[in-house]
Amino acid sequence: MHLARFPRIRLAHLPTPLEPLPRLSRELGIDLWIKRDDCTGLSTGGNKTRKLEFLMAEAEAMDADLVMTQGATQSNHARQTAAAAARMGMDCHILLEDRTGYSDANHLHNGNVLLDHLHGATTARYPGGHDMAGEMERAAEAARAEGRHVYVIPGGGSNPTGALGYVNCAFELVGQADAANLRIDRIVHATGSSGTQAGLVTGLAAMNAPIPLLGIGTRAPREKQEEMVWSLAQRTADKLGCADAVRRSDVVANTDYVGDGYGLPTRRGLEAIALFAELEGILLDPVYSAKGAAGLIDLARKGEFEDERVVFLHTGGSVGLFGYDFAFADPAETAA
Ligand SMILES: Cc1ncc(COP(=O)(O)O)c(C=O)c1O
Repeated sequence: MHLARFPRIRLAHLPTPLEPLPRLSRELGIDLWIKRDDCTGLSTGGNKTRKLEFLMAEAEAMDADLVMTQGATQSNHARQTAAAAARMGMDCHILLEDRTGYSDANHLHNGNVLLDHLHGATTARYPGGHDMAGEMERAAEAARAEGRHVYVIPGGGSNPTGALGYVNCAFELVGQADAANLRIDRIVHATGSSGTQAGLVTGLAAMNAPIPLLGIGTRAPREKQEEMVWSLAQRTADKLGCADAVRRSDVVANTDYVGDGYGLPTRRGLEAIALFAELEGILLDPVYSAKGAAGLIDLARKGEFEDERVVFLHTGGSVGLFGYDFAFADPAETAA
């Protein structure tokens, strides 16, 4: 597989580290490793930067001067897109949807939103349940009518071009494991708009590395989540010219850890944040990586990964903690 056939701009610090988690391994009774895609570098890092390497290359090829995308108020994708646009001298406009109903000032203005604006992006807010993709098309058309060259990135950067970033991650991860003589029995990560999982499924299939991959859902019910991943994996494989490589059975999601809804912190997610922070010094985010880790922790405790070496792909997002500070009581202060 020759990924250099596709235009790409280097935005991320790669390869990201693949590291053991000895204290969490002891806690959970499995051999747990972590792939640090929270350390991709751009504007505090995260999984979207890998996708943006391929998406922004397309934007540059079409001579774009304005990039548009959309997401939830505390969207990590929006923040990384704003940073990528800044780096490439393009304007960036972001449509933010209120998917949580939170009116807390930090939720509305701190964390990812603060960084969107520091990178020079403009933002527009919409109520939850709005047709965001349609709204973005209308905004793009209006800008085009004013003579702008607009490149539209779908929510989460999840299309076949963006998913190439996670095909690349699959190659990178398997290369690291092989170089270290490290057999991987399973990969676990948070799945949302589906590009991360679809890219990984496609990349692993393309290199004939049948490592079971488990996406822990953060929004959609299981059937819908798996259909989204499967559809994108097939389109990504088509783009790569290996359409027959991916199989429906490669796509597995567990959506038992979503809780009350997208962007709403869960008790298990907050426990996962505390465990990673206190045992390994690693920060998760309440919307995605904490729910992914909550699934990992619960399934490990139930014995699902017995005798396995599991790699948790950390997809980033910790800056979102500052938009969710109200979810955390401060035990040190309340005890005093
Ligand atoms: C921190 C984090 N983890 C995981 C995901 C899910 O990735 P994907 O949308 O590619 O499924 C996202 C998406 O926004 C994210 O921000």
